[in-house]
Amino acid sequence: MEFKNIILNKKDKIAMVTINRPKALNALNSETLKELDTIIDELYADEEIFAVIVTGEGKAFVAGADISEMKDLSTMEGRKFGLLGNKVFRKLENMGKPVIAAVNGFALGGGCELSMACDIRIASSKAKFGQPEAGLGITPGFGGTQRLARIVGEGMAKELIFTGKIIDAQEALRIGLVNKVVEPEKLMDEVKALANTIAAQAPIAVKLCKTAINRGMQCDIDTGIAYEAEVFGQCFSTNDQKEGMTAFIEKRDKCFKNS
Ligand code: CAA
Repeated sequence: MEFKNIILNKKDKIAMVTINRPKALNALNSETLKELDTIIDELYADEEIFAVIVTGEGKAFVAGADISEMKDLSTMEGRKFGLLGNKVFRKLENMGKPVIAAVNGFALGGGCELSMACDIRIASSKAKFGQPEAGLGITPGFGGTQRLARIVGEGMAKELIFTGKIIDAQEALRIGLVNKVVEPEKLMDEVKALANTIAAQAPIAVKLCKTAINRGMQCDIDTGIAYEAEVFGQCFSTNDQKEGMTAFIEKRDKCFKNS
């Protein structure tokens, strides 16, 4: 399927989703969010895809929600726009496949929020992060008040959101917002290598790990452990568990079938 604002490529079990509005620094308008929604559905249903990479075309990852679209919104329209972004990002976060953000440049406002809805963030040394919404007279609207505090802690999230300050990739690494910082020309190779390593694991197990971690982050530890016991048991109903353990015992390469 062709999209106006997003490029979707699939190769060797990996899907690459590139936000492609470089003239507007990949700002997310409703049209782009709806395209992303459709792409997430497609990737979720595609059993050949084991890992997803999200990145941006040009010098930005995503420089935020589209300010020109938001400028004249009414209260109801603002709420609708926020709900749209949140729905799409939550779907991405809950998609049963690992998602890596390859943060190539500006990840501001909705862009920082998009990266935080991904499982892992790898940043170019040129990347910049921030939630500058308060300087525009709004709050973060695509989950920033919720995910940033969960990822970097309440005090740091409040400082970043209250001040709107933009931080560089090294500072993002220091506060735990990104997993790794690499030179710009090495970013895609690094992210693809990570995606390939993940895609070489049993995909159903990876999916269940993701769900267990995501759920566990939102509940008490006993509920989380009970859920882990549940998904651990479920793994033994899969062919890939038999394959993974048999291959280990037989000292041969494993061949996972996503079943
Ligand atoms: N929305 C719409 N257009 C945007 C945009 C955005 N978020 N960010 C950049 N653009 C556009 C600019 O208007 C400009 O368009 P024109 O060429 O037509 O003038 C083009 O992209 C290039 O941008 P700049 O000339 O500003 O590029 P720069 O290199 O000088 O600056 C920047 C880069 C610091 C990222 C600057 O563009 C900027 O501050 N952008 C806005 C960042 C921001 O405030 N993001 C938060 C948005 S609110 C939000 O996201 C709400 C939410 O949580 C859902």
